[in-house]
Formats: sequence, C-alpha cells, structure tokens
Amino acid sequence: MSANQSSISRLSSNNDTDLNTQLVWTAVDDYIEAHLIEANPILEKTLENTARQGYSSHLHIAPNQAKMLTMFIKMNGAKRILEFGTFAAYSTIVMAQALPEDGYILTIENRDTHHALAVENIENAGLSKIIDARHGRASDVLQSLSDDTPAFDFIFIDADKQSYPEYLELSLKLSRSGTIIIMDNVIRAADIIDPENQKPSIVGLRELFQALENHPQIAECTAIQTVGCKGYDGFAMAIVK
Ligand code: DHB
Ligand code: MG
Repeated sequence: MSANQSSISRLSSNNDTDLNTQLVWTAVDDYIEAHLIEANPILEKTLENTARQGYSSHLHIAPNQAKMLTMFIKMNGAKRILEFGTFAAYSTIVMAQALPEDGYILTIENRDTHHALAVENIENAGLSKIIDARHGRASDVLQSLSDDTPAFDFIFIDADKQSYPEYLELSLKLSRSGTIIIMDNVIRAADIIDPENQKPSIVGLRELFQALENHPQIAECTAIQTVGCKGYDGFAMAIVK
C-alpha cells in the first residue's frame, strides 16, 4: 500500500475523530440549535419516545440538518414527498410540518420494529393524515402504487446505504422535472475514498456516486461534507432533469 493510501485509511477510520474534536462539533451544533432552531414540542416528544425505547440519536438527522430539509421543501413549494427509511419518523414529521395542509408524504421502512415506532410517533404527532407510513421493501411498496400515482416533488433517501443505487433509480421513476432528491450519509467519515473499505454499505455508496455521475435524468448534482453532533458525514443532492 502506498503512503498516500495508508494515510487515507487512517484518516477515514470511523473511530479516528478524537474525542475533543467530536465535543467541539457537538458544541457548535448545540450553539446553532440554540440560535436558529425553534422549540418544537412535537419533535421533542418524538425524540424522547425514541430514546426511551433504547434507540441511538445517531440514527436520525440532526435538528439543524432537519431544518435544511424544511428549507429545501419550502424553496421548492413541494407538496408530495417520498422518503426511503422512516426509522422513528423524526425526519418524516419535520418534513410533514413543512408541507401545506394538502401535502402528502409516503415513507417506507423495512424493519418492523422501526416501522412500529414510526407509526407510534406519527400518531402522537397528530400527523397520520398527511403521512402514509408503509412497511416493506421499497421496491415492493412502490410497485404496489397505482399507475396514475403523481410524481413526487421532493425525495429523501436515508435507508440502508447498500441499496442507495436502487433507491435512486426508483426515485427517478417517480420524479418530474425539478424534483429534488437528497441522500443522507454519503461520506461516512471518508470511508467512501478508503480503498480498503469494501463493506457493502460503502460499496453501495460508491456505486451511487457512479450512478449520479453523468446520469441522463439528472440536471444538477453535488455532495457536501458535514461535521456535527453525528460526526463526519455528508449529503448528496440532485435536481431531476
Ligand atoms: C447512522 C447514521 C445515519 O444517519 C443513518 O441513516 C444510519 C446510520 C450511523 O451513524 O450509524
Ligand atoms: Mg441517515
């Protein structure tokens, strides 16, 4: 292995962020949240119920990241949202709150325990009318939709990373020109550029970047690295042609 490759491997190890660096990132996220993120009792209840059931807060997006989704949804005037990976429905509830009254979210979760938790949180939030939470494999759920299902305006992919290339293609089938697609966790502490890392999730993310590169159905696309309370990761984002 070349010196360069070994330094990449070292840099990209998930355990390599020293504790102090992580504490600073978390403190800055707390500062951002204190200044720019409004108190939201419904979301606080969602987080509490999820933590009470023993789930890590790392599995859902951070509050300032959630605000970014809110802003994209409002910028695009989105009414119909598709989400891959509901987990506890924290992001789902955030997105539902950004929608007009006639908005609609279809969110898909394959793990039965996560789906059950999501349904509970969505009911507690009083958003069961806007949020259609389905249990199953995304391809099966989407195949079961009727042929005249209108396109989605905004799509958030935040499920098993291995399947992101498949979720991108499923998304494009249900998109219109101008649909925005946001993909979470596409950097994974630089694991995506570590040639020694061949985990299925990381291989899947590399295939996602290959698919996004010069994709005939995508007008614009980029990825942004992020640090914060969830560590070092990033989002990819695309506008459909
Ligand atoms: C993790 C973070 C995520 O945002 C996610 O969707 C899945 C896993 C994690 O840090 O383990
Ligand atoms: Mg995620």
